[in-house]
Amino acid sequence: MNYHILTLFPDMVADGLNTSIIGRAADKGLLSIEAINIRDYTKEKHGHVDDAPYGGGAGMVMQALPVCEAYEALCKRLGKRPKVLYMTPQGRVFNQTIARELAGEEDLVFLCGHYEGIDERALEMIVSDCLSIGDYVLTGGELPAMVMIDCISRLIPGVLSNDSSAEIESFHDNLLEYPQYTRPEIYEGRRVPEVLLSGHHKRIEQWRREQSIRRTWERRPDLLDGANLTEKEMIFLKSLGSEAKKDLQI
Ligand code: ADE
Repeated sequence: MNYHILTLFPDMVADGLNTSIIGRAADKGLLSIEAINIRDYTKEKHGHVDDAPYGGGAGMVMQALPVCEAYEALCKRLGKRPKVLYMTPQGRVFNQTIARELAGEEDLVFLCGHYEGIDERALEMIVSDCLSIGDYVLTGGELPAMVMIDCISRLIPGVLSNDSSAEIESFHDNLLEYPQYTRPEIYEGRRVPEVLLSGHHKRIEQWRREQSIRRTWERRPDLLDGANLTEKEMIFLKSLGSEAKKDLQI
């Protein structure tokens, strides 16, 4: 996977992504991260990349020319026109399914806006998809791009030390992850659940699955519609509802 980030703050993304797991994956050649400075493509004397909005209003708008020229130069260099993802709160909300789809691409371009946004004509000309990381407004698209790159990268084979750990994750099978424990066995009087010390793999697996279902029911019940539950697990899920009703009656 080759990521190309079009931004006015290349240091921000380069510094943010060259550490930890993603940085190591880049060192290993499993992915590459290139921050392209949009400012390098302006033709204005003082390096301006923005101007006041036509029609008036607050703030500045990023001009179409440097954005389009930055992308076209990249396409020329690559010999292809990779997908451009524009980071905006107006986009589809990014999730694990979108991450899985994008992980199959060879090259991805992340377009990061600043100020009051980017001239609409540039967006019409080069953007393939608008993506958001949630219903709140940030000062720019760099953090959303970094969030998405982190999420997509951990799905690339070899990036996580253990391939299977990307699969056993929150949202795999639409269920949240079960609770985890490590040594010591007792911390501040709180014991690790007995079943995890039993060495009984089948019972541990069943306990974990039930914990996942319970957590999802408590914290993200909206996900349960898409979960694949066995008949026995459906009965367990219903029992959680009855448990809660009983608690209310006490
Ligand atoms: N730019 C500003 N806010 C954003 C958000 N929530 N998601 C994606 N890009 C953004």
